[in-house]
Amino acid sequence: MRTIGLLTGGGDCPGLNAVIRAVVRRSTAHDFSVVGIRRGWRGLLDGDHVPLTFDSVSGILARGGTILLTSRTNPYQDETSRRRLLAGIKALDLHAIVAVGGEDTLGVAARLHADGVNVVGVPKTIDNDLRGTDLTFGFDTAVATACDAIDRLQTTAESHDRTIVVEVMGRATGWIAVASGIAGGADAILIPEFPMSIVELCAILARRRARGRSFSIVVVAEGARVLVEDGRALAGRGDKADAFGHPRLGGIGQLVADEIERRTGVESRVTVLGHVQRGGTPTAFDRLLATRMGVMACDMAARGDFGKMAALRGQEVVPVPLGEAAAGLKTVDPALYELAKVFFG
Ligand code: F6P
Repeated sequence: MRTIGLLTGGGDCPGLNAVIRAVVRRSTAHDFSVVGIRRGWRGLLDGDHVPLTFDSVSGILARGGTILLTSRTNPYQDETSRRRLLAGIKALDLHAIVAVGGEDTLGVAARLHADGVNVVGVPKTIDNDLRGTDLTFGFDTAVATACDAIDRLQTTAESHDRTIVVEVMGRATGWIAVASGIAGGADAILIPEFPMSIVELCAILARRRARGRSFSIVVVAEGARVLVEDGRALAGRGDKADAFGHPRLGGIGQLVADEIERRTGVESRVTVLGHVQRGGTPTAFDRLLATRMGVMACDMAARGDFGKMAALRGQEVVPVPLGEAAAGLKTVDPALYELAKVFFG
């Protein structure tokens, strides 16, 4: 019987357990045994793994997070780690590794494949910023959570005649902001891809008030920058980079709320949704997409379709080279932002 190793890396996201279950359930059709590698690539460096069986994945479909745990470990950060990684894989005598992750985890998977290891990827991230796949699972749940929060904030903003700024995740892209902002009826949406000036933003809010509504909702992506008159831009903090060099973002919402209040005189508040967007039960859509990708990944491992990920293209889940995911971020479609702007102010 051949063994495949399964790991989840990077930030967790709703739907990871659905993939784990799908890979394990499908593995019986190919006579694979499955080893779960704990905490992403770190589990291969530390020899930390558990057998995954039909029983151990029972009841996890609807659970958020990942039963395998996760970390942002870069095993290619130095030669010693790279050697330990390859030794860890050899020690387990793996036929293949199924790596579930975003740009960093899949970037490592692509390098491992170049190093001669059989690897299959599954794309995930709430940010939806991966190229090579039309969607990532986790995004739908994050957008649903953000939209629910916006719906709730609308009623309290209305009761107090306030402007409420909602800060959402997304790293360097504004997918969550645009999707939840459109779905939640935001009056303005600020994203990294299309910076707006504070003057323009305040004009949009004033226009809305002039049309008879005394409260506003502004959605701001954590990576957005807002231009102010003297050539400066308001931006959140971007310190404490992780093992892949990504800074920890946050804080733009408060800066924007303060600036709106100062310039318009309208009382303003900020709500930072943070990790609430990543936690909890995946939507049915994400469970379905994750399940389809997990089964496809297992089939790819069985037929030797390595160096690729199970990606969504149109309505189909198909193998796509890992290199596509590693070739830069998928930024917000300008047409989608244009659509959002129809509803500004
Ligand atoms: O990539 C997913 C994500 O949730 C980003 O939207 C966010 O910037 C980042 O991870 C937060 O990471 P951490 O959980 O390490 O704070």
